[in-house]
Amino acid sequence: MDKRIKLEIKLPLVKDIELVAIEGLELMGRHLQIAEEKIGEARILITEGIINAIEHSENTTPFIDVHFIMNIDALVIIITDYGKGFDPSSVENPEIDKKLSSNYKRGWGLKLMREMSDEFKIDSSEKGTKITITKNLR
Ligand SMILES: Nc1ncnc2c1ncn2[C@@H]1O[C@H](COP(=O)(O)OP(=O)(O)OP(=O)(O)O)[C@@H](O)[C@H]1O
Ligand SMILES: [Mg+2]
Repeated sequence: MDKRIKLEIKLPLVKDIELVAIEGLELMGRHLQIAEEKIGEARILITEGIINAIEHSENTTPFIDVHFIMNIDALVIIITDYGKGFDPSSVENPEIDKKLSSNYKRGWGLKLMREMSDEFKIDSSEKGTKITITKNLR
């Protein structure tokens, strides 16, 4: 039987709140006996996604929504903010050589999420941004 568990949380826009989502993820992972290495990678994906939503979105609600759907094969993470949105195609792809000689060292989160996930989708408009990340767990 395909055992599928879901967690849906509204996170207030408070420093370090991503740790609450991570706690939930780890519990789900233990319940389904997912390899620690996979959960570690999922932890990084969640952290980058939630911090982006809190830091960049200029959110108009006092919360963001985070949904996890997990079975033994895969995890889907959906992070929704209700902020200003952005155009992902206008975000410059970071390059290590340029970053080393530049004072602006940030701008790695989206690239990292794209590379560490198995599917990565951004839906963004002036009403907010939803990112959907799929991570295989086997
Ligand atoms: N949820 C969001 N709402 C609005 N803009 C966003 C959102 N997520 C990302 N962005 C825009 O995309 C840019 C790139 O995001 P990315 O995570 O790659 O880098 P960063 O957050 O600026 O730096 P880093 O993740 O390395 O700390 C951000 O600077 C921001 O302009
Ligand atoms: Mg970021």
